[in-house]
Amino acid sequence: MLDNSINIFKRAEKVIPGGIYGHVAPAAGLPDSFPHYCDKATGHTFVDVDGKEWMDFMCGFGTILHGYSNQEIEDAANEQREKGAVFNQPSEKMVELAEILVDRINFADWAVFAKNGSDLTTWAIRVARQFTQRPYIVKAKGAYHGVDAWCDPGMGGRIPSDRQDILEFEWNKTDQLQSIFKKHGNKIAGVILTPYHHPAFAKSVMPHPTFWSEVSELCEKAGSLLILDDVRAGGRLHDNGSHCFFNFVPDLAVYSKALGNGYAISACVGKQKQKAASSEVFLTGSCWNDAVAMAASIASLSISKRDQVAEEVLAKGTYFCSKLTDVAKSFDIPLSMTGPTSMPYPFIENDDNLFKIQEFCRLCAGEGLYFHPHHNWFISNSHSYESLDLAIERTSRALEKL
Ligand SMILES: Cc1ncc(COP(=O)(O)O)c(C=O)c1O
Repeated sequence: MLDNSINIFKRAEKVIPGGIYGHVAPAAGLPDSFPHYCDKATGHTFVDVDGKEWMDFMCGFGTILHGYSNQEIEDAANEQREKGAVFNQPSEKMVELAEILVDRINFADWAVFAKNGSDLTTWAIRVARQFTQRPYIVKAKGAYHGVDAWCDPGMGGRIPSDRQDILEFEWNKTDQLQSIFKKHGNKIAGVILTPYHHPAFAKSVMPHPTFWSEVSELCEKAGSLLILDDVRAGGRLHDNGSHCFFNFVPDLAVYSKALGNGYAISACVGKQKQKAASSEVFLTGSCWNDAVAMAASIASLSISKRDQVAEEVLAKGTYFCSKLTDVAKSFDIPLSMTGPTSMPYPFIENDDNLFKIQEFCRLCAGEGLYFHPHHNWFISNSHSYESLDLAIERTSRALEKL
């Protein structure tokens, strides 16, 4: 039953290029099973525009860490909303938020804010260029860092010079990174990486045991900055940043998604030594000082710390992934949940064209489970163990239809 979704999409096609664009375009999911529009959401459930209630395992593609419409966060946002959101000047909330990040993130001496991850991954590579006075940026092949021309996964609107200073190596192949440094070391401004490799349409890959120490050493020796793109994983691996989970220290780190629990905000933090260079790279946006998003973010960070949310979502994810793979196994489906359990990517063996995982997710959609076949899922702290058990029960029911 997607009648309303389809009708709204038909209206959208007339006035919005593609109807719905980007990673939430119907073609990226299950067009015949997933709703195209959402009406409302609370906790770990949402209701689509046809009135169907779903148990959600995508959490607004990671933005929701404490559950949709979390009361404490909504209260903090509402209190600020009564005063106003955007003014001529920033509000004190901006300073308070920067102080919290500097206090919490062990290497951070300063913080800046924007609205989206892309705003600040792009700004961070410019800070690295300004600091080192070098042109090249190294990234991992297939890694997503945003919508800007130096890194976006699309082909449209690009010119060759957009990427002439971007070099790539395959995740975990530190020998390739070594060769890049050998050849171009004195031209490399920075290396930008996610804490682990989470490409779409492919298994997630954790860093090998010496990956981060090798990368850190190569950067340090060459005088290049190590930039952590923690936009997607931030808050779901460690409350103080994913570098603590993998035990390394970047020079700059970018956060967004879960930072405001659904309110649009991103942050970049860095060390004292790049503070001067960072203030030379122009940074602003019309609504970037939005005090409501900053108040939501302060509340969200305080809940994460109080309730040890990263540990909680990892524990819940481990419980859920192990039960889910067991259920799948009992139906002879060799499902593995790759990557960290708080944001697992599902993969079925011998499923190169991904038809099997699509069928699995399609069947589960019939039971009101929003499992994405091509993107990592997200666990929030409003997923209770009871709700995870219910999801397993529904999965079992769905698979009986195989
Ligand atoms: C690792 C990573 N970096 C950067 C971005 C871009 O963030 P935004 O979509 O907020 O611009 C994303 C978004 O999914 C991401 O997952």
